Amino acid sequence: MSVSHGFKSVGVVGMGQMGMGISYVAAIKAKIPHVVMVDASASQAQKGVAFFESLLKKDVGKGKLEQNAADLARSRLTVVQSIEELGKLDDAKRPGLIVEAATESLPIKLKIFNSLATHLPLDTVLATNTSSISVSKIAAAAVPQGAEKGSTEAWKGPSRALGLHFFNPVPVMSLVELIPALQTDPDVTARARSFAEACGKVVTTSADVPGFVSNRLLMPFINEAIIALESGVASKEDIDTTLKLGMNHPMGPLTLADFIGLDTCLGIMETLYRETADSKYRPAVLLGRMVDAGWMGKKSGKGFYEYA
Ligand code: CAA
Repeated sequence: MSVSHGFKSVGVVGMGQMGMGISYVAAIKAKIPHVVMVDASASQAQKGVAFFESLLKKDVGKGKLEQNAADLARSRLTVVQSIEELGKLDDAKRPGLIVEAATESLPIKLKIFNSLATHLPLDTVLATNTSSISVSKIAAAAVPQGAEKGSTEAWKGPSRALGLHFFNPVPVMSLVELIPALQTDPDVTARARSFAEACGKVVTTSADVPGFVSNRLLMPFINEAIIALESGVASKEDIDTTLKLGMNHPMGPLTLADFIGLDTCLGIMETLYRETADSKYRPAVLLGRMVDAGWMGKKSGKGFYEYA
């Protein structure tokens, strides 16, 4: 039986590309009346809003969106600078679902989930857009500060948390991976699925294992392409062209690594390797060295290729 998500307001923590993409589909596709975005950095918030505007302009320009729908979507947005501020919004605007799309770092995500649990009511659904970190570990942090062991807050807090993994560019990619933590209440999983579907996405479910389904398969593929490059099997162009034209992939693996971010690829490989101790997940030495050099891919202007 299908469940209605029932969210009148959705919050998104982190106004980078992923966070803004999620805000965009929440406002445009799911038509959520209030979309509240949180970023502590005023300059990132400004960049995020400009990116949102550019998506609206492009879609209106291409005739994919009516001007009045774009204006309505813009009017749905609110930007705040802290989770504390989020908790102080009036009942209509205070989000029933929060999607955390902050930096892929365990300490940062634990801090955010603890703060969300402290400042928002216990029935707020908390989703993380992590691409490889243990969702059960993040969910365990969803307990308000000062909650006593064995209290309702302590056991119920983690049960409203789960993983909701979107793909970049969010407005274009059709998939969301749903990752219930060990603690997640099935009703929370059903509502989160319904929200992702309302955003126009096909939803697959993965167990909470390192990398889930997507990155357990994708990252070793990218890593192997880097090993092939460093072993001199072929040039970067030939590796990419082989996969692009031979297998009809939209991007070759090295171009895709640049697009995702080499630091993100390395972080995911390190998680897979650490949590499984399986040598098939050992990060390519070249990948580590490129990150050491500050070559993060497209976002830093240089990775396997150069970007103006
Ligand atoms: N944000 C929003 N929209 C974007 C975008 C961005 N950053 N980049 C491109 N687009 C849009 C374009 O505006 C265009 O939209 P329209 O159809 O409305 O015109 C559409 O995407 C196609 O773009 P282009 O014509 O410029 O280029 P393209 O046909 O080469 O497609 C691409 C670009 C969609 C990125 C395509 O190359 C592709 O699908 N690449 C693979 C992407 C991929 O694998 N993503 C998943 C990465 S893994 C991940 O995200 C999760 C993780 O855990 C690491």
